[in-house]
Amino acid sequence: MSERRVALVTGANRGLGHALAAGLSRHGLSVVVTARDERDACEAAARLRVQQPGSQVEAHQLDVTDPASVFRAFAETRRSFGRLDVLLSSAGIAIDRGRSASALDMEKVRATLDTNLMGAWRCAAEAIPLMRENDYGRIVHVSSGMGSLANMTSGSPAYRVSKAALNALTRVLADEVAQDNILVNSASPGVTATRMNYGGEAVSPEEAAKGMMWLATAPDDGPRGGFFQGRSVVPW
Ligand SMILES: NC(=O)c1ccc[n+]([C@@H]2O[C@H](COP(=O)([O-])OP(=O)(O)OC[C@H]3O[C@@H](n4cnc5c(N)ncnc54)[C@H](OP(=O)(O)O)[C@@H]3O)[C@@H](O)[C@H]2O)c1
Repeated sequence: MSERRVALVTGANRGLGHALAAGLSRHGLSVVVTARDERDACEAAARLRVQQPGSQVEAHQLDVTDPASVFRAFAETRRSFGRLDVLLSSAGIAIDRGRSASALDMEKVRATLDTNLMGAWRCAAEAIPLMRENDYGRIVHVSSGMGSLANMTSGSPAYRVSKAALNALTRVLADEVAQDNILVNSASPGVTATRMNYGGEAVSPEEAAKGMMWLATAPDDGPRGGFFQGRSVVPW
């Protein structure tokens, strides 16, 4: 079994996922860089190895909407490292900007829920048994302030509902694994300069990722079942 802690990051080929993978690697973890396109995963892993000589980085194809691909990536992680300590679910889509809930193509709703909610769910279901083997786990769901029920408005309806549902999943899982030293939390990056976000004032992915690292590396008495932006609590 690998001596170093091992983190798997989804959507790690670009944007926030890539910055999170770099941050975790810098923190001394072995990192499994995953992307839905295998070549993208390999290129992203190669970039990290160049930026951080001595890092332990592995690449795997993982499409969060494809159960066989999810299963394979976690099985290969087990084969390579014999453990999984951190899951960072960053893969996400926003395909209903400017749309209204009352006139939305249901195929967009289905696709959004399949990626943003069920994708993270599929990954957590594979990760938790592996984490239980070592009585240690940290799961971070990359959510959004747009999923906050307390602040809910119209616009991007499928995206908003998917992130509110992801937050509910965080609460359910956090309670389910409360005895297993597995901490599950939701994190909002805030407005971040990635392909998903069109302009406006935004922080860099590296800056946003920094705000999430503490959840990914939290001590055993760290937060569980919470929703944070940086270290500030976001209302559900
Ligand atoms: N940027 C913001 O302001 C902001 C704010 C709040 C929350 N977020 C959340 O932050 C997370 C990361 O987004 P980002 O800002 O970094 O946007 P991004 O640059 O568009 O990155 C999205 C990532 O998700 C991947 N992805 C999409 N569908 C996937 C699938 N089926 N399987 C695996 N990977 C998939 C993309 O892969 P491909 O390259 O293959 O498309 C890409 O790597 C998302 O969950 C998003 O909702 C972002």
